[in-house]
Amino acid sequence: MSNVHVIAHPLVQHKLTLMRKKDASTNSFRRLLGELSTLMAYEVTRDMPLQDVQIETPLETMTAKVIDGKKLVLVSILRAGNGFLDGMLNVVPGARIGHIGLYRDPATLQPVEYYFKMPSEMAERDVIVVDPMLATGNSAAAAVERIKRLQPRSIKFVCLLAAPEGVATMQKAHPDVPIFTAAIDRELNEHGYILPGLGDAGDRIFGTK
Ligand code: URA
Repeated sequence: MSNVHVIAHPLVQHKLTLMRKKDASTNSFRRLLGELSTLMAYEVTRDMPLQDVQIETPLETMTAKVIDGKKLVLVSILRAGNGFLDGMLNVVPGARIGHIGLYRDPATLQPVEYYFKMPSEMAERDVIVVDPMLATGNSAAAAVERIKRLQPRSIKFVCLLAAPEGVATMQKAHPDVPIFTAAIDRELNEHGYILPGLGDAGDRIFGTK
């Protein structure tokens, strides 16, 4: 699948397996998600553009590299996307944060936006949209569509688990947006859960249900 990156790093795969286990506590699920999102952020930011700056070391002046442009934006798709933020901020502590809230209209089954708050000057920024589960892909595609209206410099989508259906939805709607995931699972069930999956990510992060 073009533009889909499965992060096969052994630490990522190991931690994902621990998270999938049904008896993982809220505490360990949350901690593992934090660790995984730090590791994934490292991979996802691998191609960030650099620029040269002049600095002074204690010994001499040199030309050195820094990340180019305005601060990166992490956009969380509420509510489970918030579980990705702290771990990613370990790697990019100056990142700005946006939030988008969507619910599914029971009649049309289409995502409806109820919250949207982004940093200023989005047109000059690189955006990483985060949501642990890419299931049907409808929310992810709607979130990216909404963010695209602000014309950011680039958009990437990061999840923990993807279903083939969600990948297909995203690739159809946004073939220009790379997807980073720790695994692509088998399928969705009739309730829209990823199989074998890890259950409801939001409930497991926040200890609800
Ligand atoms: N959202 C979840 O939290 N889990 C799934 O399996 C699918 C969507």
